[in-house]
Amino acid sequence: MSTPKVFPEGFLWGSATASYQIEGAAREDGRGCCIWGTYSRTPGMVRNGDTGAVACDHYHRYVEDVALMSDLNLQSYRFSTSWARVMPDGRTVNQAGLDFYSRLTDELLGRGIVPWLTLYHWDLPQALEDEGGWPSRDTAYRFVEYAQTVHSTLGDRISYWTTLNEPWCSAFLGYAEGRHAPGRTDGPDAVRAAHHLLLAHGLATSDLRSRDADLSLGITLNFADTTPADPQDPGDLDAVRRIDGMSNRYFLDPLFRGAYAPDILDDLRNVWPEGLVQDGDLEAISTPIDVLGVNYYSGSTVSGSPPEEAHAAADAARATGIPSAHVGSEHVTFVPQEVEHTAMDWEVRPRGLTDLLVRLHRDYTGPAGIPLYVTENGAAYDDAPDETGFVQDDDRLAYVHSHLGAVHDALEAGADVRGYFLWSLLDNFEWAYGYDKRFGIVRVDYDTQQRTPKASARWYATVAGSNRID
Ligand code: FCB
Repeated sequence: MSTPKVFPEGFLWGSATASYQIEGAAREDGRGCCIWGTYSRTPGMVRNGDTGAVACDHYHRYVEDVALMSDLNLQSYRFSTSWARVMPDGRTVNQAGLDFYSRLTDELLGRGIVPWLTLYHWDLPQALEDEGGWPSRDTAYRFVEYAQTVHSTLGDRISYWTTLNEPWCSAFLGYAEGRHAPGRTDGPDAVRAAHHLLLAHGLATSDLRSRDADLSLGITLNFADTTPADPQDPGDLDAVRRIDGMSNRYFLDPLFRGAYAPDILDDLRNVWPEGLVQDGDLEAISTPIDVLGVNYYSGSTVSGSPPEEAHAAADAARATGIPSAHVGSEHVTFVPQEVEHTAMDWEVRPRGLTDLLVRLHRDYTGPAGIPLYVTENGAAYDDAPDETGFVQDDDRLAYVHSHLGAVHDALEAGADVRGYFLWSLLDNFEWAYGYDKRFGIVRVDYDTQQRTPKASARWYATVAGSNRID
């Protein structure tokens, strides 16, 4: 038996979801179309032709879902609002859409669950994409109006506000690799998108702050934990630098230091649009935040010398000029390791979470006194339900257990981590994978919409209830 690991008093235990992945009701009560609706209806983009049109039907089942959270001892629920539900054309307010989030918030508060709201989890109104999307600076200004609108309805009941979820994915998967909506593949546009996402975050943060000084405002980033195949090889070390730059420092440095790192600007010199960064942008982007959300799933090992099979990916990267964490470039190759992988083929690397949290605290958030929250962590496995729909998901349970151990290690090393949100409460629409990949601790039968807590959910309920892992 290992020694129990007790978490600090007040540590916040929750789970996370996102609007497009669970709500469904895609055309109900005035909701407008969003880029994921369009993208998923484009043949070949999402596995099995799945869309989020129905998803987990959470829009109609939120009362049942909140009751489930309560049964599972969850203290907080991280969800996102759909911009296209609140403002179907990206501009005009749809009261019926706001009312849904108001009902959801009341339901949560009625059960004593702290609502944690994310304003943007990738579902841009299609109307705004049609006007240029994130590569257009105007989208940042529209985002501020949207933030104001949501705040005017929910600001009296919600304290935790996250502007963006994983802007790296919105910008680089959406506009460079085309593996996410809107499916564009244009290097300079991806760089424009990333900058305007950061700008949207900064402008919305200062606007919300001026409306209400008591809010806890933040952003959630996804992080890559990257190690060199050969720690002595300068080429491998440079591959680590590039990926760390593109995935992590690209966002951290403007947010916390008010500047893009010179080596990233140099890596991107051929695609960086002239005049992109205007006077005052970096001041806006680095406006102080109150919490940093950390999403962590996996890590990778990289090399600077590509083998033959990496060439196709390298060509793709060269075409956009963007070295990303998922497409190799002529200088980066991902080297598979002989370790356990999840159903996403992601390497299970709990130690990477400890290192990441300690590094963030040391280099970015700690000096500014900003706490960290793990806003997403979890795993997809090939679940095998029994005849009642129950899943004995020992693999997922072990994944979460080891990553909570990693969070605890980070706490012991001095990182100021205040909470953990498991991704995800429910099996849901996993973007380009559709319903094929299941991340839920609660099984969803998509034919009947029946919810069945898995073994991992029962176990997580005891963790949340006792504030410790055994
Ligand atoms: C993250 C996303 C989330 C989910 C998990 C598996 O990148 O924020 O919506 O898809 O990955």
